[in-house]
Amino acid sequence: MGATLKKNILLGVTGGIAAYKSAELIRLLVRAGAEVRVVMTPSAREFVQPMTYQALSGHRVYTEIFDADADSAMDHIELARWADLVVIAPASANFIAKLRDGYADNLLLTLCLASKSTVAIAPAMNQQMYANDATQENIRALGARGVKVWGPAEGDQACGDVGLGRMLEPEGLSELICQFFSPGKLLGKQVLISAGPTREAIDPVRYISNRSSGKMGYALAQAASEAGADVTLVSGPVEISPPQSVRRVSVTSAIEMRDAVIERAPGADIFIACAAVSDYRVEKPAAHKIKKDGASMQLELVPTPDIVSEVTQLGNKPFTLGFAAETEDVEQHAREKLTRKNLDMIAANQVGVRPSGFESDTNEILVIWPDGQQLLALGEKRVIAIQLIDLLADRYLANERK
Ligand code: C5P
Repeated sequence: MGATLKKNILLGVTGGIAAYKSAELIRLLVRAGAEVRVVMTPSAREFVQPMTYQALSGHRVYTEIFDADADSAMDHIELARWADLVVIAPASANFIAKLRDGYADNLLLTLCLASKSTVAIAPAMNQQMYANDATQENIRALGARGVKVWGPAEGDQACGDVGLGRMLEPEGLSELICQFFSPGKLLGKQVLISAGPTREAIDPVRYISNRSSGKMGYALAQAASEAGADVTLVSGPVEISPPQSVRRVSVTSAIEMRDAVIERAPGADIFIACAAVSDYRVEKPAAHKIKKDGASMQLELVPTPDIVSEVTQLGNKPFTLGFAAETEDVEQHAREKLTRKNLDMIAANQVGVRPSGFESDTNEILVIWPDGQQLLALGEKRVIAIQLIDLLADRYLANERK
């Protein structure tokens, strides 16, 4: 990220342990070129001293509606007009509820009401509080009103719980802020993405599958959609939901996935093959549940179609990004796969060495194309997805110009 973000960001901090991460967010935004002013709610001051944010933003921190020192700084209406974007990070359950109901009983709520600019919230709370119907309803209502909802992420929580409710990491938030201001590079493009595992039936109740969670493909779908693309996600069985802006086509087996992809590929500008397609399927799944009889048994497996290779053999093939999970010699194997599968780009990750790959929330990938490569260093899949879509958009647009 270069120093190009010539924008005024009003950062609101509410009461939550994640407030310590807001310090890093300020540093990243300032480094990107933004002007940052910080407003804290009274409970935020229980977690972090205003001086921390003041030192990092280079400006006094606002905390009171009625401030005796107001002469020396902007008043709340000026501040509301000054902001190009209002980001509330962390946004507590209490703040979200009040924002939804239009309260103005502290400076930050007043500013949100008084500002014409977009407000973005980065929810951060205990997973049970986040899952509560009241919070969910509040977040949905704010989203419908045009408030951007960034996160939360899943993982360990300060209270010892594990689940959905953590604030997105500062790097992720600063990426989202930069992206908010940059016009979508994929505006109007048709992007087709395959994601998740496939299931190959053995009999009506058993199947062969793999551990793919679909997280990377879904994060890519969201990032492509945020970059302006019209996204269709052909997905195997996963436990996550796609963003509202994305069209999902649910499939189960490799053959179903192939049919769904091949039907749509000719109309796509870009195809991202992120699915972990089973390499083999049972040739003749049993019509009835197979009974055990104590003896050993053999399953006759046959290869599944290589979906991405079928796509790249199409006459008018879309710009295609494939994935490669390697355990060694990542670059060499990925380059070989790039050529063999006739891909335009390949994203390779080394599995088994870092918290990277299949079920993990983080990923580190080496992106390779015929005349270049770039490493996307270990980060949340959400952030890696944004960076990967940005890189893909640049390569796609460069190819278009050729
Ligand atoms: O050959 P390998 O499975 O390592 O290749 C991985 C890439 O090929 C991924 O992009 C994956 O989505 C795609 N693939 C596919 N159909 C298959 C197997 C892999 O599209 N049957």
